[in-house]
Amino acid sequence: MTGTPQRKYRSDYQASIYLIDRVSLDFDIRDGSTRVTARHSVRRNPQLIGTGGRWWLDGRDLRLVSIAVDDEPVADGALEVSETGLWLNGLPDRFTLTVVTEIDPDRNLSLEGLYRSDDMLCTQCEATGFSRITYFPDRPDVMSRYTTRVEADAERYPVLLSNGNCIESGAAGEGRHYAVYEDPFAKPCYLFALVAGDLGVIRDTFTTTSGREVALALYTEHGNEDQCHHAMASLKDAMAWDEATYGLEYDLDSFVIVAVGSFNMGAMENKSLNIFNTACIFAHQDTATDSDFARVRDVVAHEYFHNYTGNRVTCRDWFQLSLKEGLTVYREHQFAIDHGSPGVTRIEQVRMIRDVQFPEDAGPRAHPVRPESYVEMNNFYTITVYEKGAELIRMMAQMAGREAFTKAVKHYLDKHDGQAVTIEDFVLAIEESTGLDLAQFRHWYAFAGTPRLRVSSRFADGRLSLELAQATPATPGQENKPNFDIPVSVALFDDAGQVVRAPEIVRLIEQRETFVFDGLAAEPTVSVLRGLTAPVRLEFDQPDDALVRLMAHDSDPVSRWDAAQSLYMATLKAAVTAHQNDEPMPALGEGMMTAVAALLADPPDDRALLAEMLTVPSATQIGEAFDAIDVAAVEAARRYVKREIAARFEAELERLADAHAPSGGYVFDQVAAGRRRVFATALDYLACLDTPAIRKRAQAVYDAADNMTDRMAALNALQDLPGEEREATRADFAERFADQPLVMDKWLRLQAATEDGDTAARVRDLLADDRFDFTNPNRVRALVGGFVRGNPLGFHRADRAGYALVADEILRLDAINPQLAAALAGLLAPWRRYAEPYAGGMREALARVGEADLSDNTREIVDAGLG
Ligand code: ARG
Ligand code: ZN
Repeated sequence: MTGTPQRKYRSDYQASIYLIDRVSLDFDIRDGSTRVTARHSVRRNPQLIGTGGRWWLDGRDLRLVSIAVDDEPVADGALEVSETGLWLNGLPDRFTLTVVTEIDPDRNLSLEGLYRSDDMLCTQCEATGFSRITYFPDRPDVMSRYTTRVEADAERYPVLLSNGNCIESGAAGEGRHYAVYEDPFAKPCYLFALVAGDLGVIRDTFTTTSGREVALALYTEHGNEDQCHHAMASLKDAMAWDEATYGLEYDLDSFVIVAVGSFNMGAMENKSLNIFNTACIFAHQDTATDSDFARVRDVVAHEYFHNYTGNRVTCRDWFQLSLKEGLTVYREHQFAIDHGSPGVTRIEQVRMIRDVQFPEDAGPRAHPVRPESYVEMNNFYTITVYEKGAELIRMMAQMAGREAFTKAVKHYLDKHDGQAVTIEDFVLAIEESTGLDLAQFRHWYAFAGTPRLRVSSRFADGRLSLELAQATPATPGQENKPNFDIPVSVALFDDAGQVVRAPEIVRLIEQRETFVFDGLAAEPTVSVLRGLTAPVRLEFDQPDDALVRLMAHDSDPVSRWDAAQSLYMATLKAAVTAHQNDEPMPALGEGMMTAVAALLADPPDDRALLAEMLTVPSATQIGEAFDAIDVAAVEAARRYVKREIAARFEAELERLADAHAPSGGYVFDQVAAGRRRVFATALDYLACLDTPAIRKRAQAVYDAADNMTDRMAALNALQDLPGEEREATRADFAERFADQPLVMDKWLRLQAATEDGDTAARVRDLLADDRFDFTNPNRVRALVGGFVRGNPLGFHRADRAGYALVADEILRLDAINPQLAAALAGLLAPWRRYAEPYAGGMREALARVGEADLSDNTREIVDAGLG
């Protein structure tokens, strides 16, 4: 915790001097302490000559009981133990290493290594949690075959699980029992997992294409089994999809998921024993919304897909994280597109990139998809590594064509099966298989920042010249950017909306290039960067009438939505400026009004798309359009525009709500979920008018709801309407779901997002409430994260009480869960993006955090923010 944190550099990579072929672990679980006996068969790495004798093993917060080489205790002189690991000296070329350590999972609140979540014990080893279990080379390029024996009290821990197949189990005397697992696949230690607990289970089977039967099991605390069926169905779906799409069959006889209540992230792909946050497993219509259902489906698929992209072929070092995460997120995205409205699924992905990744790439924490250095690896499980990484894969897939790209991914998996490799190995494999030249494309992995793509068009004599130019702003530590290889999709339409040039992809390689389209009868409407073919900011001034045409006719639903967003944005920006200048709000733009009227008169069949197109850009999107974010002006502008739309189209919105009103009989499918989304959107607009009728209607919807999606639609509509209806529905909600922690997270979010009165004080009260548990990351994210993200005016209050609250929580959390504390610090770090007085207030709070004695995790974020 003290001293200067160590920074690790990608360029310093060196292979491990020793390799471990086999790992044998024995966990003796007792109250107050767990004894771990590890026996490894070790040999010198044949690839490294002239080294050896001395070896580093990572280890943190361990009590070393004994350490022996070939069963001889290591002499004091041959052992140097420190806070982060130990050195062994005088080693032979081959030996058996035996390490005995003691750990206390009950007191481990970091949620890394072996820890307690309610009544069960579980593990989280990625990135470097295994070194909290035993001394070990905690790096992904050391791959070993594991045998694991777990022994514990039979009554308290009837279920004992680890990776691979259970090869033995039985009684162990004194009311104890044991189980032995063997994993036939060599794996890095970050994929190790263990679970012990008194758990309920649902079981199923999946028969692979080649006819093997895989036993599936999903464990959770007793009483939650009925919330697990959607996850199980999603798993089977994912298994079938990976066979049909990539020809990848599951490679073991059993696949197990365990859902745990206390988890730092979403889920973890441990070999054959995935461990999940309950938030990414539980889905029942009474307690989960449509988006919860979709998230469960996608995260279950994501972790399953890792079995090949991540586990069979893994990362050489953590700088390569996007090798597995970018590719797996890409596969998850493909899966999601095949399971919902393709257009709307892509819209959600695009929004994520623009609303979250672009700001990260423009802030103090900007880093390349393949970072060059880090202090704490856990700080690099970022939207850049994950989502931008997936966009880079998507670009390659678009350039190669989907079929050729799928073949190339299979080539990569065959070529490197069982290996720990690099992003460069992946790109090479793609080049080999597709014949693409990716020399310049590689810059996407090495350079941070979002390129700006400026487009201008000229039309004369039946010829359209489209000029594309790129420029990328500097990011911390990277002043100069090269030209990127940018695939840009282009299509041309005539005034009637007919295609005059089918979509094609042009590649911008130089700083500036002109692409010519000949033989046109009249000036066409240009559609570029359709569906975001590259993660760049588009700068293209198109007249309203062109946008209105694209919105009505473009063959790509994402482009239609994008055109609508541009139309809204023009008015929103004018409203922000008016608010800042104390001028009256502008009239709504003509183009925007035409667009909304057309949408309501002739809505697309895809109801989810209609809902998306009716939704004005988020506050984040609006803020992104300005050099300095003026929180109050953005809020005022967004509210004004929504209220104006509601007032002008009240009758149409009423009709829309009526036509999509809940009708009972909940199913989670694309059509039904789309209808619910339209209803929620209409209700949200009508609520802006704050009439007694809409309050009553929302309460009636809440009371009659047979599912959580409609309930939340009603609660959200009442969000800014203080009064009887809001109090009654919220009170009912709190009582009805009191024993469902994940639903209470929704309640905490609602409370935190309510901005009348003294929100900061209310959030502080909730922090002390029995329904809040500071050691559970889901609760912290709901209340503190919900406050910052869901309540901009409360968080950015002039008296700085919002910032102070967040700073206090970072400091309190840092002592127990540094990963989570660092994530919260990330909320204050981008203060430079804000206008005064916000920037100064955020900076002051961040500086106060920086004065404390911090974990390496939080220190890295705070220093980046203040630097
Ligand atoms: N590999 C996990 C996934 O599927 C996430 C692990 C995140 N670990 C961490 N320490 N942040 O994305
Ligand atoms: Zn992942």
